[in-house]
Amino acid sequence: MGVAVGTKTVGVLGAGTMGHGIAQILIRSGYTVFLHDVSQQFLDSGAGRIAKGLNRDVEKNRLTAEEREKALSRLKTTTRVADLGEADFIVEAVTEKLDVKTGVFRSLEPHCRPETIFASNTSSISITRLAAATERPDRFIGLHFFNPVPVMKLVEVVPGLQTSPETADKAVRLAESAGKTPVRVNDYPGFVSNRLLMPMINEAVYCQMESVADAKGIDDVMKLGMNHPMGPLELADLIGLDVCLDIMKVLYESFRDSKYRPCPLLEKMVNAGRLGRKTGRGFYEYPGA
Ligand code: 3HC
Repeated sequence: MGVAVGTKTVGVLGAGTMGHGIAQILIRSGYTVFLHDVSQQFLDSGAGRIAKGLNRDVEKNRLTAEEREKALSRLKTTTRVADLGEADFIVEAVTEKLDVKTGVFRSLEPHCRPETIFASNTSSISITRLAAATERPDRFIGLHFFNPVPVMKLVEVVPGLQTSPETADKAVRLAESAGKTPVRVNDYPGFVSNRLLMPMINEAVYCQMESVADAKGIDDVMKLGMNHPMGPLELADLIGLDVCLDIMKVLYESFRDSKYRPCPLLEKMVNAGRLGRKTGRGFYEYPGA
């Protein structure tokens, strides 16, 4: 597996759960990565998680200690967007808010070469709309990774209405060279993944609200009866209930179809700050989180 032709350096915006995972698989695959976030604290945390992930690979004999050191030497962290100017490809994984994402792309654009491709890891915002907010809608694409990034094989590759075929091909090659299996999906709300996954999670929350079963019962049904690795409520806690709610709202508002209405219990839990693993409590409790 070598780096994709024409792409040696990748900029990753956002050092959170998705951003640090994307940076990790890219440095492991031979790319030089400029990882950007707004504070050094976020960068240190992301870089620490990357080092931990690569240590695990060494422990499991998937990587030698020398390969780990080489991979880590390809990681550059920065709080200055201008440092991403030399990247051939940029992957954005910042907060899932339209104005934050468009703001980041606009601040980046003057520093980048015209041929540099911009990709967004958005889980639900329209790629066509994000692309239209830049000067390069033909060189803009969705690259939707899955959590935990080092483990999950899929990347949804999502061309917007104006994305060129060359951009889509380069995105596919980048995903493949990072050990992922890309699936091309057109730009409709939720793509395929979240259009199927989120209504299932939302329906599981309705089951809990209506006391069809308790959380463990609902999850056990899906794990033991359908062979899902995690039940829908456990998975919602992993993803973040706020993220699940935001995606349901996008589906509901985009299709204007009542089948996507967010479950009131999901809204209530988000209002209470019970967002899942990241806050120590969602459908389950996570002591020490
Ligand atoms: N980060 C990195 N690696 C992780 C991890 C994490 N958060 N969680 C687990 N792993 C690794 C473990 O280290 C282990 O690897 P290793 O032992 O080979 O080193 C491997 O994954 C398996 O982990 P475990 O043995 O601890 O546990 P499981 O076998 O139960 O697997 C799981 C854990 C991979 C998380 C599995 O339960 C799973 O596949 N769950 C479903 C995850 C899923 O559906 N993700 C998609 C979410 S949707 C999304 O991201 C889209 C967004 O738009 C909402």
